[in-house]
Amino acid sequence: MSDYIALRRSQITHCYSIPFFCLSENGNGVLYKNAGEKLAESKYAEAKKLKLFIHKDDRSAATKELQRALNLELAKSIATEGVSKVRKVLRDIIEEALTASFNDSYEAMPETIEIMFYGYSKNSQLLEALIKISSNSSISIEHTINVLALTMIYCFGNDVPINATKRLGVAAILHDIGCTMINKKILDTEYKLSENDFQVFKTHPIKGHDIIKSSTRFDKIISSVALEHHERLDGSGYPQGITDISFESQLIGLIDCYEPLTYRDKVFRKAQAPFGSLKLLKEEVVAKKFDKDIFKNFCGCLASRNY
Ligand SMILES: [Fe+2]
Ligand SMILES: [Fe+2]
Repeated sequence: MSDYIALRRSQITHCYSIPFFCLSENGNGVLYKNAGEKLAESKYAEAKKLKLFIHKDDRSAATKELQRALNLELAKSIATEGVSKVRKVLRDIIEEALTASFNDSYEAMPETIEIMFYGYSKNSQLLEALIKISSNSSISIEHTINVLALTMIYCFGNDVPINATKRLGVAAILHDIGCTMINKKILDTEYKLSENDFQVFKTHPIKGHDIIKSSTRFDKIISSVALEHHERLDGSGYPQGITDISFESQLIGLIDCYEPLTYRDKVFRKAQAPFGSLKLLKEEVVAKKFDKDIFKNFCGCLASRNY
């Protein structure tokens, strides 16, 4: 196995402390940039065109440095820039989180939520502007950003205490982490999944739970949200068909259902306006799949903003 791993584009502009390499024909690393050297802006375009690598021993340091830089950029964009810049940085953060190795990539996640919390708690209406579809990035990342923003709207609208809000924010980002283990074709399909593909998709809660549990940094509730967000109170959900479901899993499960109904056109159904999606969800509440009070509070915080 090679000692070198390909550098992601976002790392090129943010990683100063580690050396970059090109690979010679026989696979040896040829130094491109020294450790501690800041790449001149004039070289970004060239670096992005070249195939650059880092040594595998530097992988963890590179991930941490990138995430620190992205979090700083997020704080700066929330304070001074428009929503599209915030969304771009968030997309980089979540993309990084969904592609790097778990233990490295999630270290900075609580800090990301903290930045969003302090940046938006005074003006949570700005969060609504974050919930938009951008056609040029993967559905999973868009879905994750939307679920995160809707979760925070719920928290601000219902005066959820700070620590619980932060925990819910991290849980929202990680709820579908198990999908990183599922074939992308299944995830990004525009069509209704075949029975076989659906069976594969249904394994993501257990996979996600196991990934999060392998890190001791996270509160147990965060792995339980990954495991339980497709469970339903009448026992009709998966993977376990349980009826005793934590509040956090119920809330994110509800938002997880609302988000694609509202923001995603599929070939077999049209995206609904928010009111139409809430009507569909109400049928699920009547069928006792979701909790009535959580649903009411969710509708309340959307309605109070004419959303
Ligand atoms: Fe899911
Ligand atoms: Fe989801």
